[in-house]
Amino acid sequence: MSDIPPASQDVVGDQPIALEDVVDRDALDDLCKSIHALFGIGVRVYASQGALLANVANELELCRYINEVPGSRAACGATVSAAKSVAPGDDGEVTHPCFTGLAYHIVSLVHEGRRVGRIVLGPYAPAGLREPPPSLAETDKRLDVVQASELAAKVPRVKQEALQRIAGHLKETLELIIFSSHKAWVTSKLHLYSVRESYRELQDKTTRLEQTLTRLKEVDRLKSNFLATMSHELRTPLTSIIGYSEMLAEGIAGELAPEQQEYVRTIHAKGEQLLRLIMGLLDLSKLESGTMSLRQAPAQIGPVLNEVITTLAPVARKKDVELAIDSDGVPCELAADAERLRQVFINLVDNAVKFTPKGGKVTVRARVTEGPALSGGGDDDDDSAGAVLLAPLLKQVEIRVSDTGIGIPAAERAKVFEAFYQVDSSSTREYGGTGLGLSIVKRIVDAHGGQVSVEGNEPNGTVFVVTLPSAQTRRAALPSRVPPALA
Ligand SMILES: Nc1ncnc2c1ncn2[C@@H]1O[C@H](COP(=O)(O)OP(=O)(O)OP(=O)(O)O)[C@@H](O)[C@H]1O
Ligand SMILES: [Mg+2]
Repeated sequence: MSDIPPASQDVVGDQPIALEDVVDRDALDDLCKSIHALFGIGVRVYASQGALLANVANELELCRYINEVPGSRAACGATVSAAKSVAPGDDGEVTHPCFTGLAYHIVSLVHEGRRVGRIVLGPYAPAGLREPPPSLAETDKRLDVVQASELAAKVPRVKQEALQRIAGHLKETLELIIFSSHKAWVTSKLHLYSVRESYRELQDKTTRLEQTLTRLKEVDRLKSNFLATMSHELRTPLTSIIGYSEMLAEGIAGELAPEQQEYVRTIHAKGEQLLRLIMGLLDLSKLESGTMSLRQAPAQIGPVLNEVITTLAPVARKKDVELAIDSDGVPCELAADAERLRQVFINLVDNAVKFTPKGGKVTVRARVTEGPALSGGGDDDDDSAGAVLLAPLLKQVEIRVSDTGIGIPAAERAKVFEAFYQVDSSSTREYGGTGLGLSIVKRIVDAHGGQVSVEGNEPNGTVFVVTLPSAQTRRAALPSRVPPALA
């Protein structure tokens, strides 16, 4: 059995173990020191590849003298290196003689059946040593053999059995230290491997998520393109259906019987409904793909809101819902597309009227407020919180559309801005519509650098709050925060 090189097969993962890696140096040093203090014998511990891990020995007077004589010094060097490399026998021990008559005792260190290093005890004087052997005088003629003999006589004598017992104890204790150090080393390596493995898995997942995101974006783009094309293609024939049904209803192609009139009017009304849906889809796909062009022009919110109220007043009257506006004196210039803003408030007021029962009230209020610069797009990014804290207060217009209607449960409020989302999506739902209005509202408001949110009204009903930055605020916004549609 020979000593194992550090690249042994004992691996954790793909890491070979070596004694120098696993053993606790301080514990090893303390142990060797205590042996040396107790028995006065030098102790050295080597790893299998020859690295010296512990060295506790006082130079003997004899050795010092020998090292002063060149020929003897060379012989000493040869003995020491032989003691370092001599192979212990099957029992793991060997005694290596020195030319001075002293000796070294070498013991193999074994871990999990493999030799992982060695202990070298000595030099010591064997108990039976009387005087140095003739080999001492042969190393160098200049050596004073008498002096060397006197010095050799001072070296303490050690019985072979005592030495073997000391070596045995040392070996057992050291192997215990190796065992526990190795266990700790394996545990830490396993931990490291598991952390590395988790990190690798995380990286894999991130890569897969990125790929999925890219694919989803592409699918989303295709969907928007498809919607835009389809809506456009549907609009043309639908315009004919609406136009011809209107002409028929007006009797341009001849008088119709009352029942025929009724059918034709239904065709016309449903055609109009379908056209509104298609126009909504077209708007949404344009806003999603960023191809809707918004004109950034000076605008006031007051006239926009007045026009919306005028448009929806007949609907509200028909439902017996009071429609009130409070938008006088909103001295704040917006940089906005007035037509698109009109669309936003038509949707909001139309909803408010639609979801408010007979006898209820819808109020539109506008006022100028001050707030931190609003974000340019809808998405918050990482530094937006910091930007908000640092931003100066800037002018903005806040418009609140409140109603006393059926209300929206708190848990549903964030979802109503998703396309096609309706709080009551059952087939028996009471109110008409397709669920596109609010998603269009949100996108238009985002594109203007504003924000829209929903709150509950007291004691019942809903309040939609739209905040739009003033023209001055928009000019002050960082270029990167100006939405692409308006930049
Ligand atoms: N003022 C409101 N009061 C109560 N519920 C509302 C109000 N406004 C919106 N909602 C809820 O949010 C849903 C989504 O509104 P949205 O305007 O997007 O769609 P819609 O009005 O159903 O259809 P469309 O606007 O496309 O004709 C509505 O179906 C309704 O459930
Ligand atoms: Mg609506």
